Amino acid sequence: MAAPLDPAAFRDACSRFATGVCVVTARGPDGPSGMTANAVSSLSLVPPLMVVCFALTARTLAAVRHSGRFAVHFLSHEQEDVAGRFASKLPEAEKFDGLDWEERDGVPALAGCLAGIACEVRDLLPGGDHVIGVGEATSLWREDGEPLVAEYVVTQPGIELDGRRLATGTGADLVLWETHGAVRLADPRAGAGDLVTADCD
Ligand SMILES: Cc1cc2nc3c(=O)[nH]c(=O)nc-3n(C[C@H](O)[C@H](O)[C@H](O)COP(=O)(O)O)c2cc1C
Repeated sequence: MAAPLDPAAFRDACSRFATGVCVVTARGPDGPSGMTANAVSSLSLVPPLMVVCFALTARTLAAVRHSGRFAVHFLSHEQEDVAGRFASKLPEAEKFDGLDWEERDGVPALAGCLAGIACEVRDLLPGGDHVIGVGEATSLWREDGEPLVAEYVVTQPGIELDGRRLATGTGADLVLWETHGAVRLADPRAGAGDLVTADCD
């Protein structure tokens, strides 16, 4: 049997895959939940299926299990602050404070995104430290604009970039990603929606 891959090398290689950036929302027992996600894909046209990979630690996964529904929102170029806010571990309700959103088709629907797709859960499959959520699209909404694109997405308790430690572990997720050539850090200790821009030579 081949030797297991080094997890850090695997993560580093996967982080080179540039993707769009989504916010996935769901209604939990106490209100709306939502997280930034890029492990998202369309799966099937007939029936119309979407895939979202949820970390086992994501509070949004509990909300998805509760309501059996989720919404995928494709973020626009102007919504980098929204991506930072939903990548954080702010109290779930606070993530929605001041945002234009409404309950729609059983999911929290955010305004200003390029597209939103409300889904009914069809499967929640095991996937290592993630759960693979398969949802059937039941409604959608669209707006014009340019997509938000990210690369170098890394989620871990402490982050090193080019040998420099940018943040130390807190036990909670810190998320690093790069958009428009700038490195961003979503720090759960930062204030509501704050983006900490790290220096990157
Ligand atoms: C660009 C980007 C992509 C991410 N992709 C995912 C993803 O696909 N799945 C996931 O579970 N977390 C992903 N994360 C991390 C979550 O957004 C983060 O852990 C968040 O705090 C979860 O929030 P919650 O616990 O309120 O659900 C991503 C973060 C960023 C910045």
